[in-house]
Amino acid sequence: MAEGRSSIVITVFSTTSGIGKTFVATNLAAGLAKDGNAVCLIDLDLQYGDVANYLNLQGVPTIADIPPSMPVNKVQDYIGEYRHGNVSFSVLPAPYQVEKSYTLDERRIISIINHIDKFNFIIVDTKAEFNDMNMAVMDISTIINFLCVADFVPAIKNLKNGYEAILRFGYDVNKVRPVLNRSDSQTLIDPGDVETVLGKRFYHEISNDFKGASNSIRSGCPLVLSDSNSKVKRDLYELVGLYTNRKKVSEQATHNGIISFFKKLWSR
Ligand SMILES: Nc1ncnc2c1ncn2[C@@H]1O[C@H](COP(=O)(O)OP(=O)(O)O)[C@@H](O)[C@H]1O
Ligand SMILES: [Mg+2]
Repeated sequence: MAEGRSSIVITVFSTTSGIGKTFVATNLAAGLAKDGNAVCLIDLDLQYGDVANYLNLQGVPTIADIPPSMPVNKVQDYIGEYRHGNVSFSVLPAPYQVEKSYTLDERRIISIINHIDKFNFIIVDTKAEFNDMNMAVMDISTIINFLCVADFVPAIKNLKNGYEAILRFGYDVNKVRPVLNRSDSQTLIDPGDVETVLGKRFYHEISNDFKGASNSIRSGCPLVLSDSNSKVKRDLYELVGLYTNRKKVSEQATHNGIISFFKKLWSR
């Protein structure tokens, strides 16, 4: 944790796009806020960020709207808000116009995050890429939520490469938490095999619910705040609970890894 910063920073990262980072990040922010935490959600998928769309936010100032002359310790009061019923959290969306992303300086963004002191949690959504922005935010993160899916062999190869790279970069193995999204999708790939390939158990699993996910995105309301009683909503809220000790890690679901094609492939 950076000197003086009191917030827990959880960065949602993956090696493949379209696997649910924004879906998970918005639900994490909403779930933590629902549990009474002061939360700020920051979209660092700077060119094509979806946080504002997923929350149906209009006119909320983006990260590119922060006046360059504004001192970093004043920025937290400039950040807009998402509200649903009596739950609210702060949101700093990515620029609405792609070209505005070029004006952003990652050192200033990191300095802003380091000077935010009124939130218990800062949730950071990212683009699926090892770039300077993502590396800088992973450096200052308390937890890297490394999102995985067990769908295609190339995606699993990327998972393994990305996970090993993160560890090579020197991040503590306990800081990097692989979370399996769409765990029960019908892909013929056993999640246990993916754990074997990674050499690490999933910290948590989120089930597949295409209709539930799409409906929540369309309505602009994160599933954890909806009145749905779906499994995917429970899974998302349990993940929130793992970060607040509402649920013990030992209770989490795991798979029995089996020696398989993947293990043979990568153990050579
Ligand atoms: N657990 C899930 N079950 C079903 N669909 C999901 C799930 N998580 C995400 N999706 C869908 O996957 C798509 C991509 O999600 P998104 O969060 O935008 O990915 P990313 O931010 O990694 O690019 C969205 O259409 C979303 O509805
Ligand atoms: Mg996204």
